[in-house]
Amino acid sequence: MELSDNTLEKIKVLKAKYASIGQDLDAYLDGLIYANPLTYWDYIEVDALLSLQKPKTDFPDEKIFIVYHQITELYFSLISHEIEQICKNGKNISENGEDLGWFDELSPKFFIERLKRVNKYFEALTHSFDIMRFGMEKEQFTKFRMSLLSASGFQAASYRYIEIACTDLKYLVHETKRDELLNGDIHEQLDNIYWRRGAIVEGTGEKTLTLVDFENKYLEKFHEFADEYQPMNIWKKFKNLSEEDQKNPDIIKELRELDVNVNINWPLIHFRTAARYLAQAGGESKGTGGTNWQNYLPPRFQRRVFYPELWSEQEINEWGKLWVEEVFADHLKTEKKLPK
Ligand code: HEM
Repeated sequence: MELSDNTLEKIKVLKAKYASIGQDLDAYLDGLIYANPLTYWDYIEVDALLSLQKPKTDFPDEKIFIVYHQITELYFSLISHEIEQICKNGKNISENGEDLGWFDELSPKFFIERLKRVNKYFEALTHSFDIMRFGMEKEQFTKFRMSLLSASGFQAASYRYIEIACTDLKYLVHETKRDELLNGDIHEQLDNIYWRRGAIVEGTGEKTLTLVDFENKYLEKFHEFADEYQPMNIWKKFKNLSEEDQKNPDIIKELRELDVNVNINWPLIHFRTAARYLAQAGGESKGTGGTNWQNYLPPRFQRRVFYPELWSEQEINEWGKLWVEEVFADHLKTEKKLPK
């Protein structure tokens, strides 16, 4: 059998590739001869994936709760994957598929494309949240959640990593400390991040067990991550663009969308869901993490804004307001009780 010029050329490229890392092409060709073809189930790890749902009770709807959280984690992982590429300027991969490290500069085109991806993932999450909101029987949820104490989505580290990589920590400081720490050190800012003050037992001021466990596992890692990502977070990448590129309406549009997606749309659909399951005729149930969630979760109250320079004063003052009014009106209609 004759080998075409094309095939011979590829063999030459392969030989050079393996020689450059001190390897013998012939041995690798032997490997190809013996290897089985790849299958879908091995590549996607279907069996491993489907073995990861381990309900704590026999209520069938608990599986929906677990799977939807896992789906969210996978999306968060895709989001972090894109954010890393933005922050590090994109991977330079040679024509032969060789990893040549990161580019030296971020191209505006790449910035826009990757921000678009991040926004698409957040939109997918926001739109699909109805799977949680209406997809479980409230009676089942109310029971199986009791076997999950004190675990809470509050402990989703992936969400916190995304926030730290998106903006300057000064914007994530709890509202009461924000002005004071505006020019503070990033570690002091991280120590005063909004969620550390959110998970406090009302009355005693003590940290909830959910927060204590979360901090024990992740706080140090968040500090290390802040050291790495604060100098190159998405806001810094924007500010490092040329003056002209900073006026690019496509970049501004994507950054504003990101702000709305992370700090209004997702938190609000999530809050709406919490209200549906936790609001009760005679009072409000505590979340599994024990926060005063009616006051903690609404974006209108937290007013987290990644990119305040891209919004007018009025837009910031009305952050999340329309949505929240709608949610509260709904709440009033269905539960005959407004969150405090
Ligand atoms: C029926 C569904 C859900 C309910 C009732 C619910 C309820 C709550 C509550 C009450 C809190 C405040 C902390 C606490 O007291 O536990 C919280 C926080 C949180 N939950 Fe959920 N949640 C639900 C679904 C989800 C899903 C699917 C995710 C995806 C990972 C998630 C992620 C989060 C995050 C990231 C926070 C922290 C938010 C912040 O700090 O602003 N939750 N949730």
